[in-house]
Amino acid sequence: MNKPRKLAAGNWKMNGTLAALAELDALLEEGDRDCEVLICPPATLIHPAVARIAGGGIAVGGQDCHAAESGAHTGDLSAAQLADVGADYVIVGHSERRTDHAEDDGAVSAKAAAAHKAGLTAIVCVGETEAQRDSGETLDVIARQLAGSVPEGATAGNTVIAYEPVWAIGTGRTPTTDQIAEVHAALRNALVARFADGAGFRLLYGGSVKPSNAAEIFAIANVDGALVGGASLKAADFGPIVAALDAVG
Ligand code: PGA
Repeated sequence: MNKPRKLAAGNWKMNGTLAALAELDALLEEGDRDCEVLICPPATLIHPAVARIAGGGIAVGGQDCHAAESGAHTGDLSAAQLADVGADYVIVGHSERRTDHAEDDGAVSAKAAAAHKAGLTAIVCVGETEAQRDSGETLDVIARQLAGSVPEGATAGNTVIAYEPVWAIGTGRTPTTDQIAEVHAALRNALVARFADGAGFRLLYGGSVKPSNAAEIFAIANVDGALVGGASLKAADFGPIVAALDAVG
């Protein structure tokens, strides 16, 4: 089995209006990469982003989806609706969704299953809080979230795991390389134990990735890319991160 390409994923969160799509032009100008490049803009920009990229070398994804296919869920979007406008990916279980919208592992698993059904690749996020790390619970928390948030039917082709320590998101703080390596090894072992193709799942690190620390992070074993927030908003920052991932090969 060929392992899927490494993945540089940008999560724009609730940032950007139509004018921000100019950043995609700048990214496209950098040419094709060996790694896969993904932008997850706000829902309002998914369709215009797909149109703007016009089959170029950037994939587009959503930041969340509902577990149901359709129905009375005001304000929500289904995975099928994301796929309909050209999304290939959807992030599920981001810590901001888990906190702001009280999403638990079961809800995240149902969303990932809905993504699979719609033909999307789910990026399932896990990560410990600072208090959990301080009390030595990190690996337990990660194992529990992974077991509960990744549905049956997940494969290396339709699921990506993002390790995002909550305390590293948007803070400028990152774990040490040893800490990232420890969690990614635990994720890999758990995936191999549960799924026949567990060795092929891409494992992203996320949390304050920036041009200055990307190369060091991408050199860590079992890091197959990054989920990038703030530094994905500008091509001048995201471009060098993509280039650093590409350089690892
Ligand atoms: P950050 O966010 O890169 O701004 O820390 C990462 C994320 O939340 O995906």
